[in-house]
Order: sequence, then C-alpha cells, then structure tokens
Amino acid sequence: MTSPLAALEQRARALLDSVHYDFFAGGAGEEIAVADNERAFRRLALLPRVLRSTGGRSIATELLGDPSAMPVFVSPSAFHRLAHPEGEAATARGVAAAGLILIASMASTMPIGEITAAAKEVDGDARVWFQLYLQPEPEVTDELIRRAERAGCTALVVTVDSPVFGRRARDDRNGFHDLPAGMYAENMRDLPGANGSGVRRVEMSRDFTWEHLRRLRSVTSMPLVLKGILHPEDARLAVEYGIDAILVSNHGGRQLDIAPATLDALPAIVAAVARRIPVFLDGGVRRGSDVVLALAIGAAAVGVGRPVLWGLTVGGDKGVTEMLDNLRLEVEHTLSMCGIAALSELNAAMVTARGAAAR
Ligand code: FNR
Repeated sequence: MTSPLAALEQRARALLDSVHYDFFAGGAGEEIAVADNERAFRRLALLPRVLRSTGGRSIATELLGDPSAMPVFVSPSAFHRLAHPEGEAATARGVAAAGLILIASMASTMPIGEITAAAKEVDGDARVWFQLYLQPEPEVTDELIRRAERAGCTALVVTVDSPVFGRRARDDRNGFHDLPAGMYAENMRDLPGANGSGVRRVEMSRDFTWEHLRRLRSVTSMPLVLKGILHPEDARLAVEYGIDAILVSNHGGRQLDIAPATLDALPAIVAAVARRIPVFLDGGVRRGSDVVLALAIGAAAVGVGRPVLWGLTVGGDKGVTEMLDNLRLEVEHTLSMCGIAALSELNAAMVTARGAAAR
C-alpha cells in the first residue's frame, strides 16, 4: 500500500519539471540518509494502552512561546517558486491556515517581509521563524537578521550542518546549480557583494565556530534554534552556549550521506539535553504515527520538509493546508488508538522495536 503522502508526491512529480522534482526529492551521495530517515520510523512500533478515556484531548501547544495547532512545524526549504508561481507566499498562507509555524528559508524566492505578510493575511497571530546560514561577513549576517526582525519573525533558526554545499548527484547530473532566469533568492538583494542582478549568492563557510554564535546573541533578541545537530556532545554544547532549542536534522539527507537517520540519533540527544531546552527533529516524517513516535522518544515537536513542497505543487496554499490538516487528523487518530489523553503522557516506554521481518 502506498501512503497518502507517497501518492501526493507522485501527483506533484507529474506536474513538476523533472529537474526541479529531482532538486526537491534528491539528497547527497547515494541518498542513503534520505531513505534511512523514513525507514527508521518503520523499525519502531507503538504499544497502545486500552480503556483510558481520551475524549476532549487537545494537541495544541507552544513552541518557544509561539502557538501551534500541534507539535509539528514546517521546516525551511529553498526556492518555492519552482513549485508554484505564488511561491513562499502560498506556503505561508497554507501553513497559517493550518495553525502551524513556518520556518522560512533564507534562500526563499520571495523576500521575508512578503512571506510574513502573507501568513498574517490569513491569521493575524500567525508565526514565522527565519532560517539563517551565517555569512562570512558579519555585516551581511546582521542585515539579514534585521530584515527578519522587521518582517516580524519570532525566532532565528541557524543551520549549522552546512560548512560546505552538499553534493547532490541528481543536481550534478541535471546541471541544476542555479535558479531559472527571473527567479532570485530575494532576501539576498542589496547586500554587500551583490552581482550584476543586485543579488548576492548564499555562501557557506568552514570557518564558523561556537564563538560566532555567541556574537549572534548580542545582535538579536529573537530566540536561537540550532538546526542540524546529530552528535550528543554538540547538543550539550548548545545548552552551554545558551541556545534556546535544537533541531535534530540531517538536512533531509541532503548534506552528509553517511549521517544517521535523525530518529536513530534522537535518543542520545534527548538524554544529553536532559529537558534543559526543547529538542525538535525533522527528516522522514511522513505520517501521524511518525510524529507520535518522535514525541514519545522525547522530541518536543517535529518538522516536515518535502511533503510541504508536494502539497504546494499540487494545490498551492490549499494543497499545503490539506496536507498538514491530514497529518493532524492522523496524529489525533494514532493518539486515540494508543489511549493517550494528553501529549504529556507520551514516553519512550511506549516505543518498541519491530521484528526484523517487518522492516
Ligand atoms: C531543504 N532543507 C533546508 N534546510 C535549511 O536549513 N535551509 C534551506 O534552505 C533548506 N533548503 C531545502 C530545500 C529542499 C528542496 C529540501 C527538500 C530541504 C532541509 C529541510 O529544512 C529539512 O531539514 C528536511 O527537508 C527535512 O526532511 P524531510 O521532511 O524533507 O524528509
């Protein structure tokens, strides 16, 4: 049986230029990490409890003080105008209608101010977080942060798993290394180092250290989230450096192919953080039961990446909302079936390994 989301991906694939589909779907190297992120959920099962009244349950929550209809958020992804002409504005409307938080990518094809405005059109209380790659020149980084603040973003998600660009075989084969004519990474306009079209390239740097993060604290009062943590020692360091939350992520398998599935990395990180800050996870979340598994193991919330792009391609803002609303119904259904009356009841003792034959 194919899952509803696998079917949605197939519909999107039929609509997309195959080069752009490959950009969205693909990953680093042999795409082992891409596949393993999803497979890791299949290696686990939930032990349901019975005869526990679960009526009236609410799964609404708060993430770093921001309201969310469930412990799920939208992970940042680049270049939404490749998926739909209304680009990130449609995504923002769709996510706001589902009552969730959008993490807008710094590499968006619309400026961050238009993205937050689109979200607030639907729900004046909608929240958008801004994803940042530190840029080699501090004045460029600082200007990007000021743009996010002016746009009303309420948290800064710093992606730390990209000291260099990922090497994606599909993009290499397709020769896809830049946006088509007329599309730009709009947040990068009018910055020092801009090229002829007035847009600066997003750069990666191998020279960043924890000390650079310390500086960010003095530049913004937004809460800081580190995205791309996999090693428990880095999780411990994040707490030490006063980071507000971490996002366990391997970038959807797009950076380091030998990275573990994020779900497999989660238990050690949850243990290392010991509830001092929230631990989020993304990578391979494709059904409501995946959400529940990650929460039971100790995630405070999980992110979805590619499924949002498939919803956007197929139905614009409505497609995004529909995908997220379906996910919420699946979460609710799984919780009811497992006898869970409140999210706080979820714990790792409910999680068990599947027999090898079922994986
Ligand atoms: C991404 N991701 C990403 N992450 C980030 O920090 N900044 C970015 O600009 C992007 N861009 C991007 C583009 C595309 C096409 C994809 C698929 C992903 C990674 C993303 O935030 C997230 O970690 C993964 O997508 C989560 O995995 P799933 O849900 O796609 O399996």
